[in-house]
Amino acid sequence: MGAAGTAAADPTKPASNEDGKYYDANGAPTYNVGPDGKVDWYTFSGYRRYHSECTVCHGPDGAGSTYAPALVDSLKHLNYEQFTAVVVQGRKDVNTANQKVMPTFGTNRNVMCYLDDIYVYLRARSDGALARVRPENHEDKPQSAKDAETACMGN
Ligand code: HEC
Repeated sequence: MGAAGTAAADPTKPASNEDGKYYDANGAPTYNVGPDGKVDWYTFSGYRRYHSECTVCHGPDGAGSTYAPALVDSLKHLNYEQFTAVVVQGRKDVNTANQKVMPTFGTNRNVMCYLDDIYVYLRARSDGALARVRPENHEDKPQSAKDAETACMGN
């Protein structure tokens, strides 16, 4: 890792790493893509979760559809807190004639237990750090991810 606290750090590089979970300088979750294209576990997990829960409306790879916005673009203006708020609470576009609805996912464990995963995956896509394909190589699933999943899913 580069020297912590250095001004104008590369925003596409994580500032810290806790057992395979990466964070930016503001403490928000972020991705890690190695020089060989190997991604962190959460980015890989987020790819899978996105494509099971979000792709039906937001299109494959976060690219958008006629119904819902491209989240690859949304993440250029939404920060982690704003992203989380929309997914938890949902949102209704009341300005258009045919109402478009972003569902409320706050009680959906298949989304809530993997919210950071989905976020870091989309963040990597938004930053252009990840191509529009399934990441081939990924880090092993950290023990802390297994523990958090068990606790969250209530298994
Ligand atoms: C049933 C369709 C549908 C599904 C499924 C869906 N969304 Fe959405 N989402 C929408 C629509 C429609 C909007 C735009 C709402 C508006 O214009 O207010 C939206 C908006 C959003 C926004 C705000 C985008 C912006 O630019 O402000 C985020 C973030 C988001 N969705 C994330 C997700 C995530 C993450 C998932 C999967 C867990 C998901 N959505 C699943 C329909 C969907």
